[in-house]
Amino acid sequence: MEKSQAYLRIQELRGIIEEANRLYYKENAPTLSDYEFDMLLKELEKLEKENPEYAAADSPTAKVGSDLRKEFDQYPHRYPMLSLGNTYDISEVQAFADRVAKGIGDSFTYSCELKFDGTAICLTYRDGKLFRALTRGDGTVGDDVTRNVKHISNIPQELECPAGFVPGDGRRQPWPKEFEIRGEIYMPWAAFDRLNEERVKDEEQPFANPRNAASGSLKLIDSRMVAERGLECTLYHMLGEDLPFRTHQEALEAASEWGLPVSDKRRICSNINEIEEFINYWDTERKNLPYATDGIVIKVNELPYQAQLGYTAKAPRWAVAYKFKAEQALTKLLSIDYQVGRTGAVTPVANLEPVQLSGTVVKRASLHNADQMEILDIHIGDYVYVEKGGEIIPKITGVELSKRGTDVVLPHFPEKCPDCGTTLVKDEEEAKSFCPNSTGCPTQIKGRLVHFLSRKAMNVIAGDATIEQLFNKALVWNVADFYELTKEHLLMLDGWKDKSAERFLKSISESRKVPFERVLYALGIRYVGETTAKSVARHFGDIDAIAGASVETLLEVEDVGQVIADSIWEYFNDQANMEIVRRLKDAGLQFAVKGEDVELSDKLKGMTIVISGNFSISRDQMKALITAHGGKNSGSISGKTAFLLAGEKAGPEKLKKAEGLGIRVIGEQEFLQEIIGTASEKNTKGPAAKEAPNDSASNETKDHNEEFTGTLF
Ligand code: IVH
Repeated sequence: MEKSQAYLRIQELRGIIEEANRLYYKENAPTLSDYEFDMLLKELEKLEKENPEYAAADSPTAKVGSDLRKEFDQYPHRYPMLSLGNTYDISEVQAFADRVAKGIGDSFTYSCELKFDGTAICLTYRDGKLFRALTRGDGTVGDDVTRNVKHISNIPQELECPAGFVPGDGRRQPWPKEFEIRGEIYMPWAAFDRLNEERVKDEEQPFANPRNAASGSLKLIDSRMVAERGLECTLYHMLGEDLPFRTHQEALEAASEWGLPVSDKRRICSNINEIEEFINYWDTERKNLPYATDGIVIKVNELPYQAQLGYTAKAPRWAVAYKFKAEQALTKLLSIDYQVGRTGAVTPVANLEPVQLSGTVVKRASLHNADQMEILDIHIGDYVYVEKGGEIIPKITGVELSKRGTDVVLPHFPEKCPDCGTTLVKDEEEAKSFCPNSTGCPTQIKGRLVHFLSRKAMNVIAGDATIEQLFNKALVWNVADFYELTKEHLLMLDGWKDKSAERFLKSISESRKVPFERVLYALGIRYVGETTAKSVARHFGDIDAIAGASVETLLEVEDVGQVIADSIWEYFNDQANMEIVRRLKDAGLQFAVKGEDVELSDKLKGMTIVISGNFSISRDQMKALITAHGGKNSGSISGKTAFLLAGEKAGPEKLKKAEGLGIRVIGEQEFLQEIIGTASEKNTKGPAAKEAPNDSASNETKDHNEEFTGTLF
């Protein structure tokens, strides 16, 4: 390949991989299979090797497997956070046992445990208090998610004294002064199903599996939202200096006595037969567990033996994971419904003969789209395999052809909208069919109305039946019509009385106070879920700024990629939508961020600022401060960066890049003094943090604002 071609392909691959990583880690909506992803990465690695002059420190090849996010502070792991060797084959477990016996003889035991399918976490307790929670990150450095972990109900912030512990018996406390305990944050099936149901209803991409849902939720910027996600934790590995335990089991038992969540689904085994028994038992029994497991972890139980066996660069030599094959059930496909969603997407949904899978009864499953139906060569009446944990949950993964009868019927994906009869259009990129009649298709109209009033949007108390009635009487056609309803209108509806009409109107009236970010979400712009609406609202400040933004500017918002940016731009460039927005504005809805998030000055207008390191206020507060002064935050330095705002321990990579590009580096004091000088003219109150503020930190912002006077820029 020619040099110039190689260069272009390298750039292209980096772009594709970075976008895939972003979708996987940030939106938890993987678009590539693991295999496809690995192949692209391998191609990039090869090209970079052949063309070393194009290698770059920030290439995705240099940071494989890292889930670090710029929104979090990072800390080094005291002990590297490694992975586990794994196998699907019991004979390899035997080989593991042989290797171990060769190293330490045969007087040892195994601890067999469930392998929880979640995201790894490392908790540090100091003096009995939760000190810090780090994700695996790249194994050496992890993201500090302590604030989010505090919203996980079964993680104690303070340890308990075990029964029988006598204070003053010589030991100051029943636990080591400092220790780490590692485990998994996971999302039980019930919470996962609930979350995905909501996401599907909102036409947001559902999480691919509970593991993605758990890691996505753990990394939410707004820690208050973490509490709503129903995450749980299980801990399985204690580390520290001079721990007083002889075996791994003793350490887990002690942890459990201190109130830490440790699974009781474990067993001490002495030989491979017992290990196999444990594996076989849980391969069946796990289907009744309320959470996802993907295997069994087999560990040498005696800690001195663990130390003797040690580690390879990637994994301990004293443990191995036996992985279960994906859990499936076989059942009969009875019929297929074609559902039209709020945004017009038509999705085939299979009706199945009820079957037990992963502890729940499955009656319906997604078939994705017409292409998927064709690939599976699915017929009504076929016996099909259903799996949980697929992209849309549960999903049909295959057809058992040996059970196909003679009476099966080939389904036909409709060409016309099953609701309004408009000819469907196919979005080739997404392989989805859409009804283009967005303003005339009753299902789409009603879907938008229901979404608008829903709890997380305008929170108006109204059932779907009410909306159906209002729509059927032609009283409401679009969301702006809700604000023109009168009591007389409502009394025209069957079964409505004075009281119910008044209650409904009161609820509508109260929705005028709903904050802008939720109003933006309520508009039902395709792909704009709650979190995106929040980022967009806070980035731009008001609806006019969003409506006037170019796709390029929209792309600068955290978590906004090409698809979302295009969708927002399209929404606001449609006259009919702008008319609705105008009427909603006239009705008095909130169309600008309020109060603490208010704009303080425009001194940073047009400037893109990159921040790095730690400040006396949280990074989110610092970002909010920049936004409040009209600036924009960006995660990476480019020629467009106005300056790098560097706090303590600013990233050396960023400093180097700024220097290389001749970009100014500014410290916190200089920055705050300069900003506050202008802020005090307009407003002395600082912007609030994006997240649930730590009180002392938000006061700090305020103090800075009041304290400093001076001018900048
Ligand atoms: S022990 C030094 N025990 O599976 C490694 N890991 O695929 C110690 N996992 O990295 C890990 N359940 O995140 C261990 N009972 C269990 C586990 C478990 C789930 C995770 C863990 C590990 C990954 C490997």
